[in-house]
Amino acid sequence: MDSSPKQQGAVDTSPTYTKDENGKWVSLEQEHKFKFDFALPPLQLPPNAVQLVMPSIDWSKVVGVQRSSAGSVGVFFVHLKHEGTDRAVVIKASSDLAGELFSTMLALKLGIPAPFVKVVSRASDEGKALYQRCLDVHTNPVEVESVLCKKTILIREYLQGKTLDSIRSEAFRDCINLPLRRESLLRQVGEVAAFDLLLNNIDRMPLAADNRGNPANIMLDCEQGRLIALDNGICSINKENVASYLDKCAGILRSIFVAQEKFPDMADAHTKYLQEVLEGWTGICLGDDSFKYIREGLLDLVSRAGQLKTSTLMEMKADLEAFDPDMIGLHTIQDYFLEAMLLLFREVPLHDVSGEEILEKALQNLDEHDASAT
Ligand SMILES: Nc1ncnc2c1ncn2[C@@H]1O[C@H](COP(=O)(O)OP(=O)(O)OP(=O)(O)O)[C@@H](O)[C@H]1O
Ligand SMILES: [Mg+2]
Repeated sequence: MDSSPKQQGAVDTSPTYTKDENGKWVSLEQEHKFKFDFALPPLQLPPNAVQLVMPSIDWSKVVGVQRSSAGSVGVFFVHLKHEGTDRAVVIKASSDLAGELFSTMLALKLGIPAPFVKVVSRASDEGKALYQRCLDVHTNPVEVESVLCKKTILIREYLQGKTLDSIRSEAFRDCINLPLRRESLLRQVGEVAAFDLLLNNIDRMPLAADNRGNPANIMLDCEQGRLIALDNGICSINKENVASYLDKCAGILRSIFVAQEKFPDMADAHTKYLQEVLEGWTGICLGDDSFKYIREGLLDLVSRAGQLKTSTLMEMKADLEAFDPDMIGLHTIQDYFLEAMLLLFREVPLHDVSGEEILEKALQNLDEHDASAT
């Protein structure tokens, strides 16, 4: 996101869109660019509240809409002016809305900072007002339609910060070098990596993923010294292949546990890899002992997630299933996968278990859970 010389709120009426090499409609020029620095957190929610029903936003107060330059589909940054106060929200028509909501709610439950979210049905009064106002304010209806073409729309609070793909190395170094910041930020890297493993999110920290991760889905809030998990997701492995995924994760976690217990001053391959990925993203050398803090954070999240109750996750899922109209992406959240991952996080520190054993136990637990619920 860059700042623009254009006057805030100025509307350009010339055609400003084209198709990119993938056939996706993109702006040649952004119609509305505002200095994001002034935007205040828009929604005053109690700490850790995750609500599917937030107070309505008065969409008539929208003065500008700008599409993000990053992301596969991208989001709209929406600028509202309320009684002289500038506010901002982000809207997104995710193709995996349920998964994104579920994983965002879980992140917040586990103490990982993430934007507050809510969902609006496009057919509802609020959805219609939102859509119409975006059309009125944005000069390119094709772009509005291409982003908001789903039945349900996700609204996120707008957050101050820089995603790790866009942060200049000096800014990251300045932040990480503040007293106590380095250790805490590195721990948070470990926490997010374990969280992504839990939900098989392959689009951020690449602990089990065969890729170099995605720094556009993690944001640094320098002021508060926190990493924010953006664009959260879950990808349940299908039943036929879940045991081998569990084996893979068990291998990774066990080697991290063993290293921590037996060789606490030595780096293990997995945490070292996370450190290298982070160094690649930010362009700075983090120091030889960085693995220690990343590992601490990772193991801490494993322990916190292991304490989650099956019923908590099932209730969260039931909230999403109850939404009208049906939320796209519900299939990404599978009970057997979640239960198996919780069991894995609980049992791997204690003893050697195979993926098959974990899956079998997970299915048993779910049967018992269902029986006690009826
Ligand atoms: N709440 C927010 N506050 C500030 N910036 C945000 C926020 N949400 C998203 N962004 C910015 O917009 C970019 C795109 O958002 P996001 O990652 O959710 O979309 P996406 O990658 O297109 O999604 P998907 O890949 O799931 O279709 C992010 O990389 C980030 O730069
Ligand atoms: Mg993204």
